[in-house]
Parts: sequence; structure tokens; C-alpha cells
Amino acid sequence: MKEYNLTAKMRAYKWDELTDEQRAVLTVAKEQVERSYCPYSHFHVGAGLLLENGEIIRGCNQENAAYPSGLCAERTALFAAGAQYPEVPVKKLAIACFTGGHFTKEPGAPCGGCRQVMLESEHRYGAKMEVLLYGEEETYVFESAADLLPLTFVKENLIG
Ligand code: THU
Repeated sequence: MKEYNLTAKMRAYKWDELTDEQRAVLTVAKEQVERSYCPYSHFHVGAGLLLENGEIIRGCNQENAAYPSGLCAERTALFAAGAQYPEVPVKKLAIACFTGGHFTKEPGAPCGGCRQVMLESEHRYGAKMEVLLYGEEETYVFESAADLLPLTFVKENLIG
């Protein structure tokens, strides 16, 4: 038997410690909670992407009376980017969560499905995507989406 330890690096920043570029994409994510369509959960998630060409893409969660038909904020943004700028790598992804009349104190953690989609983007473009998770007290920063999902299912796994 062998035991493996899977580790991930994450940094926590106060707002003032972030770069202008990081604050810009986080501000988009914060603005986007207002556009969230979440009549069932009342949990607003906003997303912002910064593409390598400087374009900003906006996303937010979209719910549905048939619950599984909805989609998370991160994926609405990543799929919009893939549809509008298929050749352009995603440089940064930011999310912010708002519920009960305020942004969450602790950053929201992307669901497993969104982590898998973020990884696909990194692999597709061969470029790291920085992930920024906004919290009222601290913002968590991951240098790469890969840090959020060790032992990822990738296209090589399809070959067996
Ligand atoms: N949600 C996101 O938009 N992103 C996540 O990573 C986690 C969850 C949304 C889905 C649903 O509309 C609401 O939050 C409650 O789960």
C-alpha cells in the first residue's frame, strides 16, 4: 500500500493587497450578483472573466423550475467566452456570492462541475487560469484552476 498526499496552494488577500487587474475582475463578479436569476435558492452568484485579449466576460447563475436545467455562474461565463472568443485563453476567473442581503463573509467555493469545466479551459488553451473567490473579509486566490481539482479527469483518461 502507498499513501499519497494531494495538496493545493491557496493565498488569502485583503482587498487592498490585490492588484488593479484582480480588483477589476472581482468588481465585475460583484456587479453580476444583481443579474443573477435565482428565484429558488435566493443565492446570487456573479462571475467575471478576464481574457488574454483584455475582454471581460460576465456571468451569473441561472436557475430553472426544473432544477437541474439551471447553470452555475462560472459555467455561464466560461461557455459564453468559448462561444464568443473560442481562440482566446481565459486569464482570470472571479466569483462573488450574495445571500441574505450581503456578500458572503467567507468566499464561496466553486462546485465540482465548475472546477471540471475550468480545468478543461486550462487544458484547451495550455494556459493557467487564476481563480479569485471573493469574500467580505478575504479573497482566496488560486494560481491555477488545477489547484482546485487534483486528480482531474482529463482527455487522456478517455484513452485508458
Ligand atoms: N452556484 C453557482 O453559481 N456556482 C457555484 O459554484 C455553486 C453554486 C449556484 C447554483 C444555484 O443557482 C445556487 O448557486 C445555489 O446552489
